[in-house]
Amino acid sequence: MKIEVEKCAKTKIGDIDFGSAMPFGKYMSDHMFILKWENGQWGTPKIEPYHALSIEPSSKVFHYGQAIFEGMKAFRDANDKIFLFRPKDNIARFNKSAVRMNMPEVPEDLFYDAVKQLVALDKAWVPRGEGRSYYIRPFMIGCEPALNAVPSAEYLFMIIGGPVDAIFHGDVTVKIADHFSRAANGGTGFAKCSGNYGGQFYPSTLAKKEGFQSVIWTDDATHTHLEEAGQMNFMIRIGDTLHTAPVSDRILDGITRKSILQLAKDMGIKTDISPILVDDVVEAGKKGEIKEAFGCGTAAVISPISALGYKEHYMKLPKLQSEETFAERIRQRIFDIQYNRTADPYGWRDEVL
Ligand code: PLP
Ligand code: COI
Repeated sequence: MKIEVEKCAKTKIGDIDFGSAMPFGKYMSDHMFILKWENGQWGTPKIEPYHALSIEPSSKVFHYGQAIFEGMKAFRDANDKIFLFRPKDNIARFNKSAVRMNMPEVPEDLFYDAVKQLVALDKAWVPRGEGRSYYIRPFMIGCEPALNAVPSAEYLFMIIGGPVDAIFHGDVTVKIADHFSRAANGGTGFAKCSGNYGGQFYPSTLAKKEGFQSVIWTDDATHTHLEEAGQMNFMIRIGDTLHTAPVSDRILDGITRKSILQLAKDMGIKTDISPILVDDVVEAGKKGEIKEAFGCGTAAVISPISALGYKEHYMKLPKLQSEETFAERIRQRIFDIQYNRTADPYGWRDEVL
């Protein structure tokens, strides 16, 4: 399907100082992609100047939360070539989320062309510099104006994006959840639906009041398994093995997670994908065997954890030299691939022309 393009009359790129901080998600580039579903089919795909939406207050998304999203990035290399990182994985996951939320799937080829054309058009917005990137946010909302609690008959699929800095969370201390849950068996944890995130805010705020920066989510039934780190997948190094939980109904199949597992394997790092028990972590903490722990996801890539709290236990992790950490070594490998500084034997890099 051909994408209609309406270019903006004047770029607003001059409003942004690329020499200063670019907080996550604050700046949006000149254009957006928009596609409407109505009468049981997709309409005309368009790239338009970035603009506000006009939708009715009775739109279903506001009442019943039929909303999903993705997060992916474009990177600029030293020769000003632009690359996406595993975009087809994001597209496939988006459609999995769509099915779970009873929304129409977006044709993969059209989605892929839309991302590429949008990034190509707003190429000037892809920042230069290690850690910096153009963050791409595809999302879909149910926009039928009707308050009856049944799936929307109309949807808007959109893609927006803008330049972002590397996220650095600093020394992150995390609380292992012993009451609240992010996801449940049979629920929507594996999907990127908006409600999963809204539901995290309150327990995260409570954890902050207790002096933690974030929450490690545990399984909803027993709170005995560590599952995700805030809005990221969770990994922990005990001895010299890197452990992460298997993906499930409750755990998002993170693209950074699976990239790390592949790279770790190829770097000779032992990995273990099996349920991580809180008791085992507490025991390992007592014996001083936890060497590092981190969250991983597109936005932050790898976000090291400095301490884990669980009920009366507080496990401060050692401060390893950065060249000794799996986190730092793997992060550099990912950056090298993303910024086209090394060969990409996996075919993860995808050039935008
Ligand atoms: N887990 C959750 C709940 C997330 O929202 C994300 C972010 O997308 C991730 C994990 C990491 O996934 P990815 O590496 O694909 O960004
Ligand atoms: C990630 O990309 O790591 C995310 O979790 C996206 C987030 C802003 C919801």
